[in-house]
Amino acid sequence: MVCNCMQSKFSELDQYIGTLSISNKGSALIPVLHHAQSLFGYLPQDVQSHIAERLDISTAKVYGVVSFYTFFTMVPRGQSNINVCLGTACFVGGAEAVLKEFENQLQIKSGETTPDFKFSITPVRCVGACSLAPVVMINNKVYGHVKPEDVAQILSEYSQIEGGV
Ligand code: FES
Repeated sequence: MVCNCMQSKFSELDQYIGTLSISNKGSALIPVLHHAQSLFGYLPQDVQSHIAERLDISTAKVYGVVSFYTFFTMVPRGQSNINVCLGTACFVGGAEAVLKEFENQLQIKSGETTPDFKFSITPVRCVGACSLAPVVMINNKVYGHVKPEDVAQILSEYSQIEGGV
């Protein structure tokens, strides 16, 4: 059974899809997925199936797009999502060591979420701030020229968030 909060999110998603004035609904898949992820926080199977039905496309096509783009996730992410850029400039600047330090301090691997759902680590491709390489983005905040020794300080900023570390 779907709880009321989920039902209202599905209704909101349907409303959004209803506002799209397009002849080929399949072409709206990516914006619809972005919208759904912002509503639900992730894209579980039932949300994917719902979208497939509403857009009149196969669930396989929806799954294919969700699994192709690293931005989309099928598992719930933490309250603070740590995006570590592994694009060329950041990689050359030492992003791998930064990523390892986040993994060590949080005791999770890249792509995983801490058991308390406070943090997730997501490797991303170039975020368009190469002059600041290596770059880390947490929620909407950008950190530039990040070194492994900065990681503890960065994480401590999020200890102030309610329910944070
Ligand atoms: S490669 Fe990391 S911001 Fe461009």
